[in-house]
Amino acid sequence: MTARRRLQDAPIIDAARGETPSRMPVWFMRQAGRSLPEYRTIREGISMLDSCFRPDLLSEITLQPVRRHNVDAAILFSDIVVPLKAAGIGVDIVPGRGPVMESPVRTKEDIVSLAQLDSEVIEISEGITRILQELRSDQALIGFAGAPFTLASYLVEGGPSKNHERTKALMHAEPELWHQLMERLVPSICAFLWTQIDAGVDAVQLFDSWAGFLSERDYREFVLPYSRQIFDELRSSNIPRIHFGVGTSEILGAMSEAGAEVMGVDWRVPLDQAARRITEASGPKVLQGNLDPAILQAGTQVMRQEIARICEEARRAQAEHTACGHIFNLGHGVLPNTAPEAITEAVEIIHSEGVFH
Ligand code: CP3
Repeated sequence: MTARRRLQDAPIIDAARGETPSRMPVWFMRQAGRSLPEYRTIREGISMLDSCFRPDLLSEITLQPVRRHNVDAAILFSDIVVPLKAAGIGVDIVPGRGPVMESPVRTKEDIVSLAQLDSEVIEISEGITRILQELRSDQALIGFAGAPFTLASYLVEGGPSKNHERTKALMHAEPELWHQLMERLVPSICAFLWTQIDAGVDAVQLFDSWAGFLSERDYREFVLPYSRQIFDELRSSNIPRIHFGVGTSEILGAMSEAGAEVMGVDWRVPLDQAARRITEASGPKVLQGNLDPAILQAGTQVMRQEIARICEEARRAQAEHTACGHIFNLGHGVLPNTAPEAITEAVEIIHSEGVFH
C-alpha cells in the first residue's frame, strides 16, 4: 500500500467533508470518453476493456478531461464490469451498446460458480500511481465501482436492458437465489474498491445507475442491505464515499441509508427537494449534482441560468440545514456528442459561482 498523498485545499474533498471549499467544486460523470477528440484518437484500434487494463492508457485517458476542462477531480477511467473481467468472467463492452456477458447468470449453478475477485488488480494500481503523479495537490482522484444491483442487472439480463425484467423476476420468484447473487458480488466489488483505495484514490463513488427502476419497497428488501455492506466496509478508509443512481427521486431517502456522506442526485429532482428527502431518512448529507447533461448543448445563456438555479437550490438546502455541502456535477454522464468547448465553459461558469458559508 502506498502512502496516501496529502491534498491541499482540494475543493471537492473539503466540500465532501462538510467544510467550506475555496471555490465551487465541480467534476462531471463521463468527463473522460467520447466527447473528447483526444480520447477517440488514443482509443483507435484498442477495445474499451483492453484500454482499462493498460496503465499507460487508463492514466492518460483519466487525465485528458482534467487538463482540458480544469475540473476539480479526475474520475478513474474504468468500467463497472472491470472487476468481473479481472475475476475471469466472460464480458465484453460493445460500442454503442454497453457490457454484454458471454453467458447470462440465472440459475443456482450459474450463481454458485460465478468467479469472484479476491486480489488486487495490479494494472489498476499502476495506472492510479501514474495519475497521482500528475494531478495537482488541489485535484482529487475519484475511484468507483458499480453497485451490486446494477452489476447484477448486466449479469442476469446478459447485457443492457430497457426494463430489467429478468432481474426483477429472479428477485421476486427466487429471492434466495437473488440474495446469494448479491452476497457473491459484494466481496468482488469491495476488492476492486480496495485496489483503488490502497493505490491512493481520494474518494470513491458507488454507481447504482439502474436502482431507480425499483420501487422503494423492493430496493429496501433486495438491494439496500448489500450497498450498505459495501459502505460499511469502506468506512475505515476515511475517504469520502459518494452514492449515485439515475431516476432515484423516489428512493433517495432509502439510498442515503446505505451510508455515503455524499449523495449524487439526478436532474429530475431539485436539489433542495432531494435534500429534504435525504434528511428525513438519514440526516443531512453533502449533495452532488445535478445539471441535465443535455443543457451542455443548449448554449451559454441556458447553461448560466440552469447552473445558477442549481447552485441556488443547493444554497437553500444548506440554509435550511438539510444539506451540509454541494459538489457540482451533471445529473448523469456527459453525452458523447457534447462539444468539449461547452464542457470547459460550463466549468468556468460553475467556478464563478459563490460558495455557501
Ligand atoms: O469519465 C468517467 O465517468 C469515467 C469512466 C466511466 C466509464 N464507465 C467509461 C466508459 C465510468 C464511471 C463508467 C461506469 C459505468 N459503466 C456505469 C455507471 C455510470 C453510468 O453511466 O450510470 C455503467 C452503467 C456502465 C456500463 C457501460 N459501459 C455503458 C452503459 C457503456 C456505454 C456503451 C456505449 O458505447 O454507449 C459502457 C462503455 C463505456 N464505459 C464507455 C466509456 C468511456 C464508452 C465506450 C467507448 O468509448 O468505446
